[in-house]
Amino acid sequence: MKYAGILAGGIGSRMGNVPLPKQFLDLDNKPILIHTIEKFILLNEFEKIIIATPSKWLSHTIDTLKKYNISDSRIDVIAGGKDRNETIMNIIEHIEKYKPIEEDDIIVTHDAVRPFLTYRIIKENIDGAIKYGAVDTVIEAIDTIVVAKNQDSVTSIPIRSHMYQGQTPQSFKIKLLKESYNRLNEKQKEVLTDACKIIVENNQTVKLVRGETFNIKVTTPYDLQVANAIIKGDIHHD
Ligand code: CTP
Repeated sequence: MKYAGILAGGIGSRMGNVPLPKQFLDLDNKPILIHTIEKFILLNEFEKIIIATPSKWLSHTIDTLKKYNISDSRIDVIAGGKDRNETIMNIIEHIEKYKPIEEDDIIVTHDAVRPFLTYRIIKENIDGAIKYGAVDTVIEAIDTIVVAKNQDSVTSIPIRSHMYQGQTPQSFKIKLLKESYNRLNEKQKEVLTDACKIIVENNQTVKLVRGETFNIKVTTPYDLQVANAIIKGDIHHD
């Protein structure tokens, strides 16, 4: 089985003083979350599409789906967790209640606030997760990456061609992800905010899927301006 997990459980603190968590803000007269969901419902192969939101925004999420006529019966809305990985684990628990997880079941996890992902990216995530067990969507680093461990002076400058910027989706065999997560201690769980890092810490392979420059994550008010330019066609995307 193939499942999609839409991570909308954050509060968007870096967006500043806005009335709603950023996933509910409008992009061209439609909430960001709705743009994202519309990409996922196009793929028939998903058995379920699970949206996790902060518990106090559950009814708002359900109302928003209704308002924008998203009535796909595969969609479930559940409460997220206190950090991003906990949100993913809540989604997995929800799947387990629906159907026992089998060896080859996969989950495509995606930031609700990355509305520009493409059909190709989703497809390559599904195929990669089935074939390799874990995949991360990335683009090549454009700027040189500078490491400054004390946040004050340069520790090292890694070779740029080895550097990538992580995007989402990140996709996994569900059993592999869950077992790897359960092997972490509480301290590791607090530090490991990235789902692929759970797999890397367990010395398992995570293959790369090529992302897109325009597959941005709306994090700050500036990103929202960029996202508006992308959607209006001022910045090209397919
Ligand atoms: N996310 C989640 N559950 C959490 C925290 C984050 O599902 N407990 C989701 C967010 O809703 C978002 C995605 O993970 O779609 C990427 O995280 P980020 O951009 O950091 O979102 P926020 O945590 O909402 O933002 P901020 O860090 O600015 O507060």
